[in-house]
Amino acid sequence: MPTPLPPGPRSLLLAMPAYLRDPIGWGPAAARRYGDTFTLPGATPLVITGDPAGIKQIYGADPDTFTPHADNMEFLLGGGSLILVGGAAHRRLRRLLAPPFQGARMRAYGRGILDRCAAATSTWREGQTVAVHHLAQRISLEIILEAVFGVHDPAAMAELTQRLHSFVDRVSPLIVLIPALRRELGGVGPYAAFTRRRRELFAAFDRRIAEARGQPPGDDMLSLLVHTRDEDGRSMSDQEIREQLLLFVVAGHETTAIAVAWAIDALHRQENRHALDRLRAELHPLGPAPEPDALAALPYLDAVCQEALRRYPLALAPSPRRLLRPFELMGHTLQPGVAVAAAIGVAHLRELTFADPLAFRPERFLERKYSPFEFLPYGGGARRCLGAPLAGYELRLIVGALLAGRRLRLASQRPDLGRVRAANVGPAHGVRVIVEAQ
Ligand code: HEM
Repeated sequence: MPTPLPPGPRSLLLAMPAYLRDPIGWGPAAARRYGDTFTLPGATPLVITGDPAGIKQIYGADPDTFTPHADNMEFLLGGGSLILVGGAAHRRLRRLLAPPFQGARMRAYGRGILDRCAAATSTWREGQTVAVHHLAQRISLEIILEAVFGVHDPAAMAELTQRLHSFVDRVSPLIVLIPALRRELGGVGPYAAFTRRRRELFAAFDRRIAEARGQPPGDDMLSLLVHTRDEDGRSMSDQEIREQLLLFVVAGHETTAIAVAWAIDALHRQENRHALDRLRAELHPLGPAPEPDALAALPYLDAVCQEALRRYPLALAPSPRRLLRPFELMGHTLQPGVAVAAAIGVAHLRELTFADPLAFRPERFLERKYSPFEFLPYGGGARRCLGAPLAGYELRLIVGALLAGRRLRLASQRPDLGRVRAANVGPAHGVRVIVEAQ
């Protein structure tokens, strides 16, 4: 028997101003009002849960219970993108695309990550103001381009970077929110501009794809894609390959950059002085130019990064799944067509799991282990973030490298509630820091 949907706000439109004002605080506030499992209304109602028991039900279910629910992403990423396909196609793509981002491969990226950090900070002078979010975006984009396309050549890197920025950063929110505006209208308007920039970006991708097809197999993602064959010996089309390349570049750099920015922001707040002092003491023996392996092995640095991912969830409830069959969630029998999602933004700020949840206290990750349904920055189940090992490694290396042998100060101690940026919530003011004398 279907049961009524869990309660929730009556209208998303009416809830929007409060959400935009405080995008991290909104989810926990709604959970206090409606309970940890609540419904976001819409043409497809979305039931989200921050209760670890409910999250376990979603991530533990047979993956074929769901299909991705991301109608607004299809025009942006393409319908064949890993994040938008389900069933056997999803399983096959994941098997194919996981290796470049698995644990053992990380060490190959370590030197490149630290060299990029060194190059980006080499010109810093005492008293200079730096926007950490912007800096981390540049570094993480170059890293993902290397892992995905295998490009090392600065000119090729510059071309891809420029095309990507002009494509990703200038997508008008109007065409994201209003499908009716996705028309070319004789070459004018935001959708026509969008398709023009996409053509230019894909032309740059196509040059790389053609080059990779003529080369022996390598270990970057593009090489894996062009050399793979399905059971019938068929290779992937350029269109299929483009869609995966775009997803990885989009999913793989802004997320990490935001996490770096939040970590640096939190560490430099007056009330978190203890955490910065403890991290500096841990970094000190490694000197001003630490080795990747040494940084990656630091337990307090790791705890700092985990705490930043917990305290500043990237999204309230990323990657909703639409039900293909009836599903039991926290005592509610939900019907096909309803969507569900783990509310990471509720789970991470839940008093029952994390004492004093708004406090930035990395020690909590040294004192106990949290289950994958309590702490889940990378989601879970069959669609868990494929870049998680790279993201976690990169985060530790960049935060460690920015702080090793140098002191920074926040330009403003005013609290930052965050701002919604495309699919993620990032710091509102870019985390501006001032470089100090040692
Ligand atoms: C701190 C950085 C990152 C965070 C917090 C993060 C978080 C997430 C989350 C929450 C999901 C949805 C998981 C789910 O549906 O259960 C996801 C999916 C995904 N992420 Fe990440 N991500 C990060 C970095 C990266 C990087 C560096 C890459 C690429 C190398 C990447 C590639 C992906 C892909 C391909 C998916 C879709 C997986 C699928 O649908 O099967 N992410 N990520």
